[in-house]
Amino acid sequence: MTFEAMWHDLAPIGRTASGGYFRQPFTAAERECHAWFLTECARRDLTVHTDGVGNVVAWWRPEGAAGPGVLTGSHLDSVLDGGAYDGPLGVVSALAALDLLRERGVAPSRPLGIGVFVEEEGSRFGSACLGSRLATGALTPAAATELRDRDGVWLADAMAEHGLAPTSSDLLDGVGVFLELHVEQGRALIDHDAAVGVASGIWPHGRYRFDFTGVADHAGTTRMEDRHDPMLTHAMTVLAANKQARLQGARATFGRIEVVPNGTNAVPSRVTGWLDARARDEEALTALVAAISTQAQDRAGRDGTSLQVTPESVSASVHFEPELAARLATEHDGGAWPVLPTQAGHDAGVLSLAGIPTAMLFVRNPTGVSHSPHEHAEMADCLLGVHALADSLERLLR
Ligand code: GLV
Ligand code: MN
Ligand code: MN
Repeated sequence: MTFEAMWHDLAPIGRTASGGYFRQPFTAAERECHAWFLTECARRDLTVHTDGVGNVVAWWRPEGAAGPGVLTGSHLDSVLDGGAYDGPLGVVSALAALDLLRERGVAPSRPLGIGVFVEEEGSRFGSACLGSRLATGALTPAAATELRDRDGVWLADAMAEHGLAPTSSDLLDGVGVFLELHVEQGRALIDHDAAVGVASGIWPHGRYRFDFTGVADHAGTTRMEDRHDPMLTHAMTVLAANKQARLQGARATFGRIEVVPNGTNAVPSRVTGWLDARARDEEALTALVAAISTQAQDRAGRDGTSLQVTPESVSASVHFEPELAARLATEHDGGAWPVLPTQAGHDAGVLSLAGIPTAMLFVRNPTGVSHSPHEHAEMADCLLGVHALADSLERLLR
């Protein structure tokens, strides 16, 4: 199976009329992607290990391969109405790179694993990198058991439908190094005029639930000055978040909102908005969220509403090992690949924070657009990415 053939087979799964993908964890579409992956592993005679959560590592252990393994791979779930590349590019490239290593007759002295982690996006249960956090122990099964999706379905019930459960895992035992290939989610590689890059680190980022509570009332008969409207407080908070992020060179987004009772002719009683905030270091992230929260609280005081802020999923700053990144960037034919930070979260960050030496390769995205149906990478760049991954793995497997 060539890269193109695998990409073609995976492409229709979970795609909707918008051209975007809904591959939320433990849904039919996402499970179909996992079944597709298992078929590709069987084709290659890989030894598949699955943990209780649904994370998978498929090992190639040819004769003579021993000791800590080299892991590559990514994830197959998507954000709501996401693109085709975020996650799947790393998985399909991993399979194609393994094929290339075999074609080259490489005899690795270490095992090579291809991993797929569940719920990387946190699009259903709100907790980013759920699968890799459970696999590394960064999230406990007890904490995971508390998670519910927006329809009120408990994580444990969603998993149970597929014979899975929020449990701890020994799936990553024996992993000596992790290398994740990912589509770039910004425009840095365009600026560098490079098809492939290497990650230096990941900005710290978090998701914070803002619960604004007011008083439900009639949209017509309630005088404007008599209202306690949580929508107003929320609206001002969205503007404050945008302004604070601009002032601090950071990122702040309210991309999700829930309104109760969500009727046109009533002042709402409650508005819940989710802030996604990211900044270059942890101090800056704390300052950003504090500034937004303070302005929101001040406004709540003036609107006669109240506000509670709850951090739901916070990801620490990641600094990938500079020596490993530099080796990957330079020890190959052709010019050096640029080394750049990213503002996007990845399972690679979770594994790195768990003490596993980790690196990432990025493949150019010609528009920089991601988490959108318009996310794209040119096939020629994807194939360059496969070669870059195979070359990097070959050196790591020596
Ligand atoms: C995941 O892609 C994230 O950065 O939220
Ligand atoms: Mn991703
Ligand atoms: Mn993503």
